[in-house]
Amino acid sequence: MASAPGKTILMGEHAVVYGAPALVAAVDLRARATAAAADDVPTGKIRLELPDLDHAELVRTGEVREYASRARRRWEEFSRSPGRESFARMRGEGPGHVSVVALGEAMEAVARRGGGTDEDRGVRVAVSSDIPIGRGFGSSAAVGSSVALAWLARAGVDPTRDELERLLLEVERRQHGQPSGVDAAAVLRGGVLWAEPAPEGTGFRFESVTVPPDLLGRFRVVDTGVPAESTGEVVSAVRERRERSPEAVDAALGRIRDATREFRRLLGEAAPEPADAVELVRRCQRGLEALGVVPEPVRELVRAVEREGGAAKISGAGALTAEQDGPPGGGLLLVLHPEPERIRGWSFLADVEVLDVRPGGPGARVEEIA
Ligand code: PMV
Repeated sequence: MASAPGKTILMGEHAVVYGAPALVAAVDLRARATAAAADDVPTGKIRLELPDLDHAELVRTGEVREYASRARRRWEEFSRSPGRESFARMRGEGPGHVSVVALGEAMEAVARRGGGTDEDRGVRVAVSSDIPIGRGFGSSAAVGSSVALAWLARAGVDPTRDELERLLLEVERRQHGQPSGVDAAAVLRGGVLWAEPAPEGTGFRFESVTVPPDLLGRFRVVDTGVPAESTGEVVSAVRERRERSPEAVDAALGRIRDATREFRRLLGEAAPEPADAVELVRRCQRGLEALGVVPEPVRELVRAVEREGGAAKISGAGALTAEQDGPPGGGLLLVLHPEPERIRGWSFLADVEVLDVRPGGPGARVEEIA
């Protein structure tokens, strides 16, 4: 059995896709996957069980590898001309997509090390998760890494973190298109991480950060509902906007980047002033709004928080359009207030959920080998 945490982006989303830094935290919600030989599963097959999604499927081991390599080819085609339409063509639809891709990539990793695919027994792979899906909590990275880790552990493979990070980045690409990789890093490493762009576009250097508890404890995570568009669609739309209006989009990305760097500096202070953090969260949110990823009903919530003397920003990709009926649909909203106990009493948050989630859980790990 392996498990992995969800994550929340404290600051830097979207800009990080273009090589700016980000601050990202694992959270204390986890996904768990087990992979075990099962007598009631036919030899050479895998029964994938996803009770949270009310889904189960029986697949041949070979089909899993074929699915993963077809997904890889579709992704390569998409990455030659990334956009909203090519993303929609690339993306797998079924509830088992992330798990099957993670299994297929893990099988490739075992094969690269000269291991077999264990055709002589049927295997049950079961996944469960407390991480809400599609909100920006990194559910796909958590599911992908726990499934891959469980499969690798069963095959007797103890991957290096680099290997695991590369594997998970491939899984995330099949789900989100062109992810920056910060989700994968946060979920694998745990804690709070600073992602500093490495020279010449070679990815990121990750550094563990200790956020003064006095400041971290003033954040609350609010669920504003599932965005109308997936992360991949929102990221592709921003890319298209940037091609059409590079100056406006780069100015918005620059505001996010600068606020994120200043926030990092603030965290280095012995006793950061909550008022300074409030100011930086507001500035970052203005950049996100200028990018066009914060729907109107979410902006209204943010203004209401600001009138109360706090600050709020979306955490994750956000959304392009508001949901017609129902919740505002911006995914996660981080709310910061010098007196956080007041947050639960605000009537304008009555229709959204203030979650009991704390940043900074441990990273992906094998829990148990039977
Ligand atoms: O929606 P999420 O939390 O999966 O995060 C998306 C964050 C982006 O910066 C918009 C994309 C990325 O890959 O970093």
